[in-house]
Amino acid sequence: MSQAITLNVNGRKYELPVEPHWTLQFVLREKLDLTGSKRSCEDGDCGACTVLIEGTPINACMTLIMDARDKEIETIEGLEENGQLHPLQETFYENAASQCGFCTPGMIMSAKALLEHEPSPSTEQVQHALSGNLCRCTGYYKIIESVLEASEKMADRR
Ligand code: FES
Ligand code: FES
Repeated sequence: MSQAITLNVNGRKYELPVEPHWTLQFVLREKLDLTGSKRSCEDGDCGACTVLIEGTPINACMTLIMDARDKEIETIEGLEENGQLHPLQETFYENAASQCGFCTPGMIMSAKALLEHEPSPSTEQVQHALSGNLCRCTGYYKIIESVLEASEKMADRR
């Protein structure tokens, strides 16, 4: 039986009816048209669906929608501000750290959570933070380099 809930996504409130067995990934993509969270393994293995709930990266495919209601949800669509890309988006672009791009939104959301808790991470900390995000294209080096460069950009802008 459907229930009306409120979702807070990227600072915007959405009120909508949901089925309790729906996942956050399904609702973001199919009901809110926020397709940055990718659908891939749907089994918690690849990280392509990563979004932040209350600042913590989670697999949206493994999160029931009822567990996401009334919480602050961030997706890749919310990173740009006033036409300005987030430093992570800039460095991924500058370093060609995105090839097919399928893993990129999840990678960037995991990296964003890291940089919010650890503004100057080591390479090992970046590797650890991204360990749940799989990439079939890049070999990871450019991704890690991009996160480290983004941390420097963010420090310069503070
Ligand atoms: S689609 Fe969610 S972890 Fe792979
Ligand atoms: S850029 Fe293709 S999977 Fe990562």
